[in-house]
Amino acid sequence: MSILDQVVARVMPAKEAEELDAIELLKKDHDDVDRLFKDYEELVDGNFSPEDRRLMSTRLCGMLAVHAMIEEEIFYPAARAAKVDSDLLDEAEIEHGSMKALIADIGEAGAEQRLYDARVKVLGEYVRHHVKEEEGELFPACKDAGMNLDALGKRLRKRKDALMHILQSTPADLS
Ligand SMILES: [Fe+2]
Ligand SMILES: [Fe+2]
Repeated sequence: MSILDQVVARVMPAKEAEELDAIELLKKDHDDVDRLFKDYEELVDGNFSPEDRRLMSTRLCGMLAVHAMIEEEIFYPAARAAKVDSDLLDEAEIEHGSMKALIADIGEAGAEQRLYDARVKVLGEYVRHHVKEEEGELFPACKDAGMNLDALGKRLRKRKDALMHILQSTPADLS
């Protein structure tokens, strides 16, 4: 972090999680997941053990699954109700289906397997593509549709907290 960034960060503390509106919350999730994919790449580059990589990919896939669930349960239906372009929402749902299939494959595989890292990498590329479409097209359309993003943000936060709680109380490696 540059000196300037550090000063700005002190003067303007990051918004509390509870204050984020729906789009801010989803974007923060996107950034957090992106960081985890980069962390995973560092483990691969550093030849870390299958156990370490498995731990990181389990965390990553868990966060991603929770994010997809809150979008599917709360955000996408709210967008449909607000008459946001249904083509965008249909496409997003199909992409979630493909991501969930990749997540399930990773969950069943062992990190010592030859194609494990490639699976995580492909999932990362897929997620990046999906995020670009959400942030570039879907979210602006949601803003234009006049959705109540503050109220939705609170609902997303509540559901996310409940799902993360379940995730954290489940053993990290179920295999
Ligand atoms: Fe999504
Ligand atoms: Fe998303």
